[in-house]
Amino acid sequence: MSLEDLAAHLRRASRVTVLTGAGISAASGVPTFRGAEGLWRHYRPEDLATAAAFHRDPLLVWEWYASRRAVVGRCEPNPGHQVLARWSRERRCTVVTQNVDDLHHRAGTAGVIRLHGSLWELRCAGVAVPGDRRSRHGVCPEEWRDETVPFAEMPPRCPHCRGLARPAVVWFGETLRERDMRDAATAARCDLFMAIGTSAIVHPAAGLLHEAQRQGAVTAEINPVATPASRSVTIAIQGAAEDVLPRLDLLLAN
Ligand code: APR
Repeated sequence: MSLEDLAAHLRRASRVTVLTGAGISAASGVPTFRGAEGLWRHYRPEDLATAAAFHRDPLLVWEWYASRRAVVGRCEPNPGHQVLARWSRERRCTVVTQNVDDLHHRAGTAGVIRLHGSLWELRCAGVAVPGDRRSRHGVCPEEWRDETVPFAEMPPRCPHCRGLARPAVVWFGETLRERDMRDAATAARCDLFMAIGTSAIVHPAAGLLHEAQRQGAVTAEINPVATPASRSVTIAIQGAAEDVLPRLDLLLAN
C-alpha cells in the first residue's frame, strides 16, 4: 500500500484521528524516548518519571524536567506539526498526542487531546488526584501554566500552599485523566486512524489503534522503522513525519 492509497483513504474518510508520539517532534530537536539518543537510553524511567521517584528526590526529578523544558523551549513546530494543525482547523482530523512538549499547540492545532499532560503545566503535589478537594491543601489550584525557564525557585512550589509542586504530566504507574481517555476513545470511533511517530508500546495510548481497528476503521502508520503495530495496520508508510505529511498534504491538494 502506498502514500497514494493513504491519500485516497483520507479523501474518502469523514472522521480521521491521528495519534502522535515523540517521533513527530524529533525533527524539531525534541529527543524521543526509545530512539538511538532517546531519553530512556540515558536515564531510568523509574528514577525520574514515577511518583515514587518524585517523593524520593523531588529536586532530582525537577532538575530533569527543568532540563527538558530548557531544550523544548528552544524548539519550534516542524512541517509535520504544521500540516496536522491546518487539518485540525479544517476539521479534517482530531489529534490525540502522547507528547508533553505542546508543539501541537504552538503550531495552532485545534482541539488537541493530550493524554500525558504538559511539561509547561504544574500542579500542587499535595493534591493526590486532580480535582480531589479532600486533600489537606483543600483549595490549591488544580493546575497552572508556567513557561518560565529557568524556574524562579527549585523545586517549584504551589503558589497557594507553598507546598511542593509537581509536573502536570502522567508518570509511569499513574492513570490518565478520565476526561482525556474518554475523549480519546470517542476519537477512536473514526473511519481512518493514523499512528504517527510512536513506538506503539505504551498503553493505554497504544491500545487506541486496535480499538479503532476493532470498530472498523482503516488504520495507518507513519514511522521510519517498523513497530509492533506495523503488521496489523492497513497501510504502513516507512518515513519521517516531517517529510511524509507535507507530501500527503500535496497529494490531497491535487
Ligand atoms: N517521524 C516519524 N517517526 C519518528 C521520527 C520521525 N522523524 N523519528 C523517530 N520516529 C519514531 C521512532 O522510530 C519510534 O518508533 O518515533 C517513535 C518514538 O517512540 P518513543 O521514543 O517510544 O516515543 P513514544 O511512542 O511517544 O513513547 C510513548 O512513553 O516514555 C513514555 O510517556 C512517554 O509519551 C511517551 C510514551
